Amino acid sequence: DAIQVPKDFLHIDDFDKDTIMKILNRAIEVKAMIKSGDRSFQPFKGKSMAMIFAKPSMRTRVSFETGFFLLGGHAIYLGPDDIQMGKREETRDVARVLSGYNDIIMARVFAHQDILDLAKYASVPVINGLTDYNHPCQIMADALTMLEHIDRIENTKVVYVGDGNNIVHSWLRLAAVLPLHFVCACPKGFEPDAKTVEIARSAGSKIEITDDPKEAVKGADVVYTDVWASMGQKEEADYRKKVFQGFMVDEALMEMAGPNAFLMHCLPAERGIEVTDGVIEAPNSIVFPQAENRMHAQNAIMLHVLGA
Ligand code: CP
Ligand code: NVA
Repeated sequence: DAIQVPKDFLHIDDFDKDTIMKILNRAIEVKAMIKSGDRSFQPFKGKSMAMIFAKPSMRTRVSFETGFFLLGGHAIYLGPDDIQMGKREETRDVARVLSGYNDIIMARVFAHQDILDLAKYASVPVINGLTDYNHPCQIMADALTMLEHIDRIENTKVVYVGDGNNIVHSWLRLAAVLPLHFVCACPKGFEPDAKTVEIARSAGSKIEITDDPKEAVKGADVVYTDVWASMGQKEEADYRKKVFQGFMVDEALMEMAGPNAFLMHCLPAERGIEVTDGVIEAPNSIVFPQAENRMHAQNAIMLHVLGA
């Protein structure tokens, strides 16, 4: 029997290790071509992509739109006021209407169920550009950045310090695909989803959840952080600032991590809150190559789901 290839890109562990590595290697290949100035590779010529944003974005919007354009396609930005998915119109109607015009749909939504519904009712591939639950394109770009800077992903020690949020869930789902030592240092009550932790553990990765960032970062290959209040939680920002005291990634914490630790942050960063200006600007910070790799990782993801 032919193996059913997922139509969509919704969670990293919807794919096996070979496929994830194939996508990352394709990203490296197409990145080299784009960086060389070669624009002859136009696999998306004559294709269009609808991009639904229920939340703000800089990286996701610009990297998808530019990447799709550089490979020959046309991308349409639909902001929070345009579609009002679930309010002006039901998600299943949006999915079927956009499938009639477009070859691919990318969406950033609040409820994870919205991306599942979009994928269910769309006849074209749907790519997850972040939900309240996960952010798979980000962690694909992060994995690509680790390949470039550390030369490997497998069995590296990645220590995430902060809120056990959507970024953490995608790290855990990468850890379900290949062996990782992933540590989430977060305040009590802000742990990642227990079922997702279990998925990564039962796949054989070493997963630790702790509230001691100082102990956690020792020997890390990567120290990773993200905002303490995600989109949709901004009214909790003041409360979270109090609860997350001691979880800022600063010079002292990077010192404890050791000389080989890279700093990563998915951005946007709130300098002086979850991370200091100094560690973002330090030589071992790879946050800007990481941001750039959003485009290259996503190009390869789009090539994969479009079978191009
Ligand atoms: N990292 C990331 O997804 O950034 P944006 O919210 O700007 O898209
Ligand atoms: N956790 C953050 C990630 C932003 C890219 C959020 O959901 O707002």
